[in-house]
Amino acid sequence: MKNRLMLALDLPDRDKAEAMAKELAGDIGWFKIGLRLFVAAGPELVKSILQTHRVFLDLKFHDIPNTVAEAIGSAGQLGVQMTNIHAAGGHEMMRAAADAAKSFPRMQLIAVTVLTSDPMPPEQARVEAVRRAEAAREAGLHGVVCSVHEVEAIKAACGHDFLTVTPGIRWGGQSANDQQRIADPGYAISQGADYLVVGRPILQAPDRKAAAREAVELMQAAARGGA
Ligand code: C5P
Repeated sequence: MKNRLMLALDLPDRDKAEAMAKELAGDIGWFKIGLRLFVAAGPELVKSILQTHRVFLDLKFHDIPNTVAEAIGSAGQLGVQMTNIHAAGGHEMMRAAADAAKSFPRMQLIAVTVLTSDPMPPEQARVEAVRRAEAAREAGLHGVVCSVHEVEAIKAACGHDFLTVTPGIRWGGQSANDQQRIADPGYAISQGADYLVVGRPILQAPDRKAAAREAVELMQAAARGGA
């Protein structure tokens, strides 16, 4: 299950990110490098993390088709196993990105549907997320980022093999922070989420290794319950 858990390395610099990755190396399968860290530490940090772990480069590209396709090519050359774009960028942009990703068969390209921080009412978010997921699949992407509450509907519409990567994970009374559509790790697994993205619940825990292990245990218990 730890190979389905992605830690969001939302940290300010390379030293802190490498220290965190080292501390949690045995407890987590993937590290997610997002905007803050990439802007600060860049491709060298990505290469350093790639020596030991899989990397989801979460830069949520949203630009004209050619620019996005070139950025996807750069991500592929870096060697990351997953990267993403905004489905809101439209069909031409998603198609150009998917075409660029074909040169890197080990890299999964996914689309952000509706941000889990978006205050849209849940039913509207689900309808919109499914609509954008269908558009992403149509354009040739491998999956989407979505909330746990949209996984079942997206799998029903796009097929079981269409990946769902779910942030907004919270458990044991943790603060939702700025997330709106949250769910706990066990529920995420029971809904069929392929990968769980966790940031602050682990990064800010008094015992980070214990928090990571707790998340994995909740995932395992749900998987056993569903077996
Ligand atoms: O700290 P927290 O667990 O809320 O972190 C969630 C991570 O997932 C952040 O890095 C955030 O950028 C990312 N993310 C998200 N919602 C999306 C896509 C990515 O929260 N739709």
